[in-house]
Amino acid sequence: MTDAAPLAGLRRQIGGVLKSPKAVYASLAGFAGVIVVLALSSLASLIVDGWIQRDLDLRSTLIFRSLADKAAQPGAGELQAFKQQMQKAADEERIFGLAFCTRDGALALATAAMPPALDCAEFSGSNANEGVTLKIDNAKLRFNRFALTLGGTPGQLLVAQNIDEARSGQRDALTYATAALAAAAFGFGFLAVVVTAALRRSWMSSLRGAIAESIRTTEPPVTTGPADRRINALLGDLRVRRKFVHGIYVRWSPESLRQLLLDQLPDAQVMIVSNREPYIHNRENGEIKLQIPASGLVSALEPVMRACRGVWIAHGGGSADRETVDKNSRLMVPPADPTYALRRVWLSEEEQDGYYYGLANEGLWPLCHIAFIRPTFREQDWAMYRAVNQRFADVVVEEATCENPIVLVQDYHFALLPRMIRKALPKATVVTFWHIPWPNAETFSICPWREEILDGLLGSSILGFHTQFHCNNFFDSVDRFIESRIDHENSLVSFGGRETLVRPYPISIEWPPRGLLNQPSVEQCRINVRERFGLAPDTRIAVGVERFDYTKGILDRMRAVDDLLTMAPQWRGKFVLIQVAAPTRSKLDAYAALEAEARNLADEINAKYARDNWSPILLVVRHHEPTEVFELFRAADACVVSSLHDGMNLVAKEFIAARDDERGVLILSSFAGAAYELPEALIVNPYDTHQMAKAYDRALTMSEEEQAGRMQIMVAQISERNVYRWAAQMLFDASWLRRREKIVPSDNL
Ligand code: G6P
Repeated sequence: MTDAAPLAGLRRQIGGVLKSPKAVYASLAGFAGVIVVLALSSLASLIVDGWIQRDLDLRSTLIFRSLADKAAQPGAGELQAFKQQMQKAADEERIFGLAFCTRDGALALATAAMPPALDCAEFSGSNANEGVTLKIDNAKLRFNRFALTLGGTPGQLLVAQNIDEARSGQRDALTYATAALAAAAFGFGFLAVVVTAALRRSWMSSLRGAIAESIRTTEPPVTTGPADRRINALLGDLRVRRKFVHGIYVRWSPESLRQLLLDQLPDAQVMIVSNREPYIHNRENGEIKLQIPASGLVSALEPVMRACRGVWIAHGGGSADRETVDKNSRLMVPPADPTYALRRVWLSEEEQDGYYYGLANEGLWPLCHIAFIRPTFREQDWAMYRAVNQRFADVVVEEATCENPIVLVQDYHFALLPRMIRKALPKATVVTFWHIPWPNAETFSICPWREEILDGLLGSSILGFHTQFHCNNFFDSVDRFIESRIDHENSLVSFGGRETLVRPYPISIEWPPRGLLNQPSVEQCRINVRERFGLAPDTRIAVGVERFDYTKGILDRMRAVDDLLTMAPQWRGKFVLIQVAAPTRSKLDAYAALEAEARNLADEINAKYARDNWSPILLVVRHHEPTEVFELFRAADACVVSSLHDGMNLVAKEFIAARDDERGVLILSSFAGAAYELPEALIVNPYDTHQMAKAYDRALTMSEEEQAGRMQIMVAQISERNVYRWAAQMLFDASWLRRREKIVPSDNL
């Protein structure tokens, strides 16, 4: 290193420090402090000089008075006698000397220290009582002049005092005066800073209150005072937020979602964590086949991923998944136009049994759905669930390229993941969406690990449910089982020094729906379906499309067909229920039992009413591609969604989307989240078989006009509140929180 190097390093360090705003403020404050001290010391010096001058003048006056008395006495006219008096007075401390000048400017008498060549003419000015400062032999002297008639000679008595000596006597006073002034100035300054900070804090907090209120009411708050830049930014956000999320102007699409990301979250790293992957590779007959799960979640989140080129982390469950990844278990997708990374996580059979089949699907699924299937909680499943959640958390950390990624955590498979991510990446924005219902607190109390699950979820920055009802159930559970503060007004839970925003984000479907692409006319779809199922041309059709799950009320809708055919025999031979059910979680007893029971029930009802070539229930147990499902929807007179409990249910929305002819009737369970958004459907209680039977009858006899009227309202609702809006709302809230966090860190409550 050369000699210049340390200096350059020092300069760089100083430069670096000064680049930070805090350092610049500190330097300015230091500089201002020096100026204040210098100004105060000058002021103190002026004040002390004033004191000295007054002191000198007073002394001179006293000396003059004592001498004047003597000059008035008889015999005082003798100059020599008076000179002695003068000398005596001059011997006093700080008195430099005295002199008597006649009116015509002659020096008549002078004490010893006075210079013999003192020029009396210098003191002949008209203002005789004014002091004069002169420098004589390097001494700074103050002369005071007093008119005096001495021995009949008019003239003036000069009293000279040494200013520097007087000053040295006052130096302590000067120091104390400076210190006192500085202390007073700093005291007042400190007081002013404290008062200003208190006023500012109260102003900021009332402004934040106004902003929070405005989020609720969607109206921006009105400010009168000078709003600072950050507050302006917040208000700007609010206006954009209102326009984009609550406004009627945005038709949400993949493009507007992409634009939102670019505008509101530029450069943010976005990750998604879900159990089910968006692209599955399976080996079938020796060939690798790509399967795209027909999932609302995939169609909602794919545009997000494409826009931000993020990472999707999911369980690699396909039989050829390992063959299609690189050494880091990654591959770029979608295969036709690779834009984002899919990171697969490998789980052993044992891990899947405990985490997926066990805790998630035998414990949490029935617990949250209250479908009268007893939840099963096993200690070993819980241990596996924790371990797998931790595995995914580790992968999130591995994939993070910054300290504050946005992580979108999906569903009940990952209740513990938000807290685990929060611990590893405290600055991450964790947005968790719970796709299934949240039960009431009493039901939730069944879960042996209820506190851990609540704690895990409250590691999220945002926690979303489909409906306000489920949010309220969650608040009740939090209130009952953990020590926390709930702000219902602003939908916030404060727990462990952090806040979680808990809000409803009703999920929906893509619009326009992909399944509608290349569909033939409704008439053609009817012909196709009737042909495929061997139905007579005048047969009226109701459809049900589901995963074969006990929460869907499949048995209940079959029983309602039985009831209908008894109640309204005219439908015998003229009506069928086509029930499409995709096998799911078949490894679990409850699912295997349901499938067996459904097959038996269908056989039973069919045996009861079958005639010629007609059977009332057609049960098809296999996965259907979206195009097939949409063809079925278009061919149907009614669609039945009879969930015993459902977070949202996207089948209801897809049926409406499929009917661009504005015909068809939706029969919808009041226990599906969709019922809150689609009250124009025929709303039913699936536990009330007879009511459902009447709903079938009503659907089959509803006028085309009424069908169109109901459909038009529901189409408007779904096309506007589509799945891109769902994603946009959450991402918007995430961007809002990130900006808010810069002002009020949520771990600083
Ligand atoms: C339903 C739920 C989703 C859940 C999915 C899991 O569709 O509504 O929230 O993620 O089931 O299904 P899977 O086949 O992956 O177990």
